[in-house]
Amino acid sequence: MENPTTIGEQGRSGDPCILVIFGASGDLTKRKLLPALYNLARKKLLPANFALIGIALDTIGEEAFRARVQEDLRQFGGAPETCEFCDWLVQRLYYLAGDFRDTNVYTQLGALLTSLDEKHDTHGKYFYYLATLPQFFAEIIKQLGAARLTDESNGEWRRVVIEKPFGNDLESACALNHEIRQVLAERQIYRIDHYLGKETVQNILVFRFSNGIFEPIWNRRYIDHVQITVAESLGVEQRGGYYDHAGALRDMVPNHILQLVTLTAMEPPISFQADAVRDEQSKILHAIQHLAPEDVLSRAVRGQYGEGQEDGSPVPAYNAEPKVSRDSHTETFVALKLSIDNWRWADVPFYIRTGKRLAKRATEVAIQFRRAPFVLFRETPVDHLTPNLLVLHIQPDEGISLRFGAKIPGPIVRVGSVDMDFQYTDYFGSEASTGYERLLYDCMVGDATLFQRADMVEAGWSVVQPILDVWKALPPRNFPNYTAGSWGPKEADDLVRRDGRTWHQS
Ligand SMILES: NC(=O)c1ccc[n+]([C@@H]2O[C@H](COP(=O)([O-])OP(=O)(O)OC[C@H]3O[C@@H](n4cnc5c(N)ncnc54)[C@H](OP(=O)(O)O)[C@@H]3O)[C@@H](O)[C@H]2O)c1
Repeated sequence: MENPTTIGEQGRSGDPCILVIFGASGDLTKRKLLPALYNLARKKLLPANFALIGIALDTIGEEAFRARVQEDLRQFGGAPETCEFCDWLVQRLYYLAGDFRDTNVYTQLGALLTSLDEKHDTHGKYFYYLATLPQFFAEIIKQLGAARLTDESNGEWRRVVIEKPFGNDLESACALNHEIRQVLAERQIYRIDHYLGKETVQNILVFRFSNGIFEPIWNRRYIDHVQITVAESLGVEQRGGYYDHAGALRDMVPNHILQLVTLTAMEPPISFQADAVRDEQSKILHAIQHLAPEDVLSRAVRGQYGEGQEDGSPVPAYNAEPKVSRDSHTETFVALKLSIDNWRWADVPFYIRTGKRLAKRATEVAIQFRRAPFVLFRETPVDHLTPNLLVLHIQPDEGISLRFGAKIPGPIVRVGSVDMDFQYTDYFGSEASTGYERLLYDCMVGDATLFQRADMVEAGWSVVQPILDVWKALPPRNFPNYTAGSWGPKEADDLVRRDGRTWHQS
């Protein structure tokens, strides 16, 4: 068969390489990584010289592994029954069964890499994707290092992609950074935050810096406050075992939400080079004021859902979900008022909220501008002016909307709020994507812009650590405190109402 991946339609294809997935039988691999590789193959962005080795405990043989991947590509990647790209990919799949803690696995992996490197002419370039439980991250990297499989001394690149969660508090994140840097240089480490794989998240930067009209007003003189909402309508589903130990704060804030904060608040970088962008993001993370213990009580709200409804059907309370402790104190909702202590954002609050079983699935950044002076309208029936609101809709309906006032037709002066709406799909259509395509591609071409650096991870955890400490010392007394299907606990409304504001409802 003619190789379908030699010439990229949308740029050069990735470097020749072998991808090793630790956790080849896991949920992430089958639902996200394999479909993403299939999508990259379809867009001709995978290198022609490519191979993939899967490793997991499962003693399934290579042929059975290939058959299972074919099936997964159909089920989770939407691949058709007859699919040349699937065949192409599957011909390059290899499988190694073994325990990540077993040194022999790395000896076998080394031998397999050497033979496949020759067979597929991959120039000794390997990247390892740790798609497994976080407790194995340090162990796998240590073993790879001991087996000299991360050694770049011959000039080939060797990279390691680390999934989230990266630590579960500041101390464990610093310890993990310390351990992995015994083996790897920072340039070899790709800490993934799959939120950054979303087109609309990347578009925040393009929107801000490719349009001349927004940046001059993107500051405290014109912006009243910013709201970031990451709302899910689903509950914990099958993730109760993990979630009950993590909670909404750990699961969402140090990574996804702070990424949205940094992209919204950062200064223009001097280029789109990885470190230029990440330097500016890092400055924002360092400028976010840490909450003193007494501030946690007034500026951080936690909640847990009780039973309620989703789409008109009854749904259970969080503490009745599978694998969740019946007297769980884990928060499924968090709202925070953050301050960025720099020249651009002094006195502009950033309100953030995220939670499960909320009224609607919606991720968005809402920028509320200062109100226009009312002076002209004193003599009219207009009793107030609504401020302009710019909303960057991240998901599910990707787009941008701008709210402004317009005269309601008629002989008397009345002002109505209207929206100017842009929907991505109207202009660019929609393409099958898992959000991992761009991230996998970037690993193959060595672009770390969308990956977190050690200092960013630690700065993110530093922001949430004071809240974790206070919440641990003072267990909640009123859980569950919001109804499934609502917009969260009343205290979250109070958080913004105290400042004379309300949450923007999508
Ligand atoms: N699932 C998602 O959509 C998603 C989204 C974002 C981030 N993540 C992150 O991605 C990572 C993987 O998540 P997941 O949901 O895919 O987990 P998972 O379904 O539990 O998969 C774990 C994988 O690791 C393998 N494994 C476990 N212990 C092993 C050992 N001692 N030796 C060899 N293999 C071992 C398992 O192999 P066997 O099946 O053979 O036991 C399986 O392939 C986690 O860090 C998670 O937080 C997942």
